[in-house]
Amino acid sequence: MRIAVVGAGAMGSLFGALLAETGTEVCLYDVWIDHINAINQSGLRIEHQNQTRTVSIHATADPNQIGRADLAIIFVKSTQTAPATRTAAQLLGTDGLILTLQNGMGNADIMAQFIDPARIVAGTTAHGATVLGPGRIRHAGSGPTVIGLWAPGEGAQTLIQPIAARFTQAGIETEVVADVRPVVWNKLLVNVGINAITALTGIKNGQLLDLAATREVSRAAVEEARSVAQARGVQTRGDAVAHVFQIAEATALNRSSMGQDVDARRPTEIDAINGFIVREARQLGLPVPVNQTLTALIETLQFHYE
Ligand code: PAF
Repeated sequence: MRIAVVGAGAMGSLFGALLAETGTEVCLYDVWIDHINAINQSGLRIEHQNQTRTVSIHATADPNQIGRADLAIIFVKSTQTAPATRTAAQLLGTDGLILTLQNGMGNADIMAQFIDPARIVAGTTAHGATVLGPGRIRHAGSGPTVIGLWAPGEGAQTLIQPIAARFTQAGIETEVVADVRPVVWNKLLVNVGINAITALTGIKNGQLLDLAATREVSRAAVEEARSVAQARGVQTRGDAVAHVFQIAEATALNRSSMGQDVDARRPTEIDAINGFIVREARQLGLPVPVNQTLTALIETLQFHYE
């Protein structure tokens, strides 16, 4: 199986490296030229549990150098899903698969504009990683990865089981599910409850739990999003708010990805997270004032970046 990772930030580099370490042919693609050069010159350095190892892996900033792939894993920010999918579409043969493990909702639907929906695999991962500099990442945490075909049909399990097996062999413990939508929704609820609040206030994930007032904003945002999911016929977990707080606790010392984006004055994924809830709610005629406010404030913040 030849794998192309489109978007070699922290998570893309991590998945690519773990797969390459177990002998899978992987190519990392990213437009961050310093990172690509560092990886090609000295390998990718991964810090994990106070140890550093170096993984040799092919990386390129030129999509023409990647060659044919059986699987393209999209790890760009959700704002870049469309161009990344266009690149992936050129690499995949007629039976190649595309996988999104990105944050937010809407990525698979964007992919479906360029790729046969029967070849789109979506999912979530609880692995965490941070970029430390060109050619250097930290593997911050491990956890399950869950995948499923976005438009499941006959033989769906057989099609993606080899991906799960390959990932699991590489230390990315992966489960295949028949219906991946609730899984992606449950992850969305976590991002809805943590990302914008931490990005706006400058706090780390764990500090979301320190004040009753902050917990209340998070709870309200998550409950609103759950009502949207329900109206769309998706059953999300009943303990969604408690689950969000558990994740905030488990990642207490991390700054959320949206927090890191705001700190670095990068466009955020607000459109695919709280903004997605606002758009869905508008169509459904549901009130989501907290998500609306969080979205408006993040949009304001990023509009005024200097
Ligand atoms: O986007 C993020 O930062 C992560 O998905 C999570 C789980 C909120 C942890 O920081």
